[in-house]
Amino acid sequence: MKKIVKKIVTAVAVALIPSWGGAAAIASVAPATIEARIDSLLSQMTLREKVGQLNQLNTADFDTLGTAVAQGRVGSIINEVNPEVVNALQRKAVEESRLGIPLVFARDVIHGFNTVFPIPLGQAATWNPSLVEEAARIAAVEASATGIRWTFSPMLDVSRDARWGRIAESAGEDPLLNERMGLAMIRGYQTDNLADPTAMAACAKHFAGYGYSEAGKDYNTTWLPLPLLEDVVLPPFEAAAKAGAATFMTSFNDINGVPSSGNKWLMRDVLRERWGFDGVLISDWNAITEMINHGVAADKKEATLLAAAAGVDIDMEGHSYPDVLEALVAEGRLDEAVIDGLVRNVLRLKFRLGLFENPYVDTSRPSPAFAPAHLAAATRAAEEGTVLLKNTGLLPFGKGVKKIAVVGPMADAPHDQCGTWAPDIRRERSVTPLAALRKLYGDRNVLYAPGLRYTRDRSCEGIAAAVKAAGDADAVLCFVGEEAVMSGEAHSMADLDLKGAQTELIEAVAATGKPVVLVVMAGRPLTIGRERDMADAVLYSFHGGTMAGEALARIISGKANPSGKLPVTMARMTGQYPMYYAHKNTGRPPEWTVELDSIPVEAPQTSTGCTSYYLDAGKEPLYPFGYGLSYTTFEISEPRLSASVMPMSGATFTVECTVTNTGKCAGAETVQFYVRDVVGSLARPVKELKDFAKVWLEPGESRVVSFTLAPSQLAFHGLDGKPVLEPGEFMVWTAGSSAEGTPVSFNLVENKLL
Ligand code: GLC
Repeated sequence: MKKIVKKIVTAVAVALIPSWGGAAAIASVAPATIEARIDSLLSQMTLREKVGQLNQLNTADFDTLGTAVAQGRVGSIINEVNPEVVNALQRKAVEESRLGIPLVFARDVIHGFNTVFPIPLGQAATWNPSLVEEAARIAAVEASATGIRWTFSPMLDVSRDARWGRIAESAGEDPLLNERMGLAMIRGYQTDNLADPTAMAACAKHFAGYGYSEAGKDYNTTWLPLPLLEDVVLPPFEAAAKAGAATFMTSFNDINGVPSSGNKWLMRDVLRERWGFDGVLISDWNAITEMINHGVAADKKEATLLAAAAGVDIDMEGHSYPDVLEALVAEGRLDEAVIDGLVRNVLRLKFRLGLFENPYVDTSRPSPAFAPAHLAAATRAAEEGTVLLKNTGLLPFGKGVKKIAVVGPMADAPHDQCGTWAPDIRRERSVTPLAALRKLYGDRNVLYAPGLRYTRDRSCEGIAAAVKAAGDADAVLCFVGEEAVMSGEAHSMADLDLKGAQTELIEAVAATGKPVVLVVMAGRPLTIGRERDMADAVLYSFHGGTMAGEALARIISGKANPSGKLPVTMARMTGQYPMYYAHKNTGRPPEWTVELDSIPVEAPQTSTGCTSYYLDAGKEPLYPFGYGLSYTTFEISEPRLSASVMPMSGATFTVECTVTNTGKCAGAETVQFYVRDVVGSLARPVKELKDFAKVWLEPGESRVVSFTLAPSQLAFHGLDGKPVLEPGEFMVWTAGSSAEGTPVSFNLVENKLL
């Protein structure tokens, strides 16, 4: 039987290949042909074989896993990265199982595979989608060489609370930035030919609302009214679905009490019907079974019924589908046609990946890991993702700085500089700041004393040596931040101050009177206000990856000019989160604030102004969204509008500005285009990012940057979740951060008034 099936499947495929043949041609087999091939296979599958396709297992002991594969009870495997094992398991599927349906192998390739790029939050700080696409392409080339053809990336969860450790995996607080970076990753992973052996299926996750986990506590409940869902949470996912993301993943959280893995409205009405998604929807790890913990299912059968009804195609390591789906059909509680629908999506993915024609990984190819071009791209990404927060003129080091004290627990941390979700690094390939600085300045000019053994180290024993090194040097580089394990999944923090004795270390070296550069390497924004005040310059690197040290050394020495801009608001105190630029104005926006210590004893109740701010933290962040300095300076003109009146249904509108490099060295500026709807039927954010452009300018050079604005970009969603577009006054900014710029107004008017 199997042989016959293979002949039919292959014959169909071969018949349709143009004379020039080749994997690319197979990949371009028409969708209708894929559907015909799915029909053909489905008609021969037993219920058990169908359920097998819906079962994703973690890699395990080969014999056990191999037996299950040969019996057709596994459809995909996660976390196997040994190409020989991948091919051996694939042979079990293709040559031993009855129908020879190939497996697909998956991995969390989140920000690189062997060559690790900055964490997604750091890639977002580049504001350079083409660089992010290049990074994803490199990740796919390296991962697919081991047999991985499906990555669980990009994460599109808008994140506005840095207590949530997974902010590290996001592109930060803004939906547009998450969308642009997510689409860049999808392009890089998938290319325009998913059957290319170096392509990987992308996975838009975690669908949806996970970034709103209450209080920044991972896996926590979310409360998302329809306007917030439709205006902020869903847009990046809709863009991913319409851009052809091959797969989606459900999120762990419940939305208003409904766990995503059982959320029929989200998965069928929105994802499938409204957005036309026909790819694979996989649950997050065990998330189907966890609906029992959520308290919406009494047992695996009820959880499975909820998930199948919602259209979750694959149960990732959840053992619900494989354990109870057949029984549910036998009991008449689930129609086999529902299962057929899920299996279709899985088979379609495998056909699109070209796995039926090309199931094995070519192990004859030399490994592409750490190719020089990959390392060069990783260096550029780490450079462009580094944000210069403060600089009194100390950076870049001039000729006066000959001896450098390098201190701090992150100065030589090859594992931790790669950040969260980097399981395939080879730590010996990481270029740490210490290694790069020694290479650049010479060993004898670099005085190294870490001070602390790791970032959580509370012992101050090593600080004296760091102080000595500082005393003997012309300047101090102090590398602090977070170990990789302190951000990412299940790593929420209730306090975002530097851990261990890092602050004591900074205080001690600053007290020597030598100029100090504070370099923070972390998975999230940290509350570093006190430490910032002790330093002459501050660089922020969101775990920069394999080449983090090389990039930082190049920036510190002036070989590279930093151009990073914050993708998240940096709060002064943890208690200010959730804190983000696109906030509502409230009825009492603070014009002025009173600082806690300045309030007189027995001050009158209303003496602090009765407006919306914190007595102990004020109203401003430490640094706003979109902020970042350069070694040069830029000027961005006020926006120039193509008209002062925009018809509600009419042509798009042009907004221009001129950006000039007013400083002495070449550099890049990211011009950000914000809009505010001044009056709406719902309170609207004080500003929203509508576009951005990163421009590289020589000293004195000017460039006109032009954005378009369509009425549809001014719409929002009402309380009923339906889109509304309302006439009225709008303001626009073109600026170098969300806190700068002079707005210009225009009016959106109903056509009949024109
Ligand atoms: C994890 C994460 C998800 C990841 C999956 C597979 O729990 O939530 O992002 O892709 O399991 O590792």
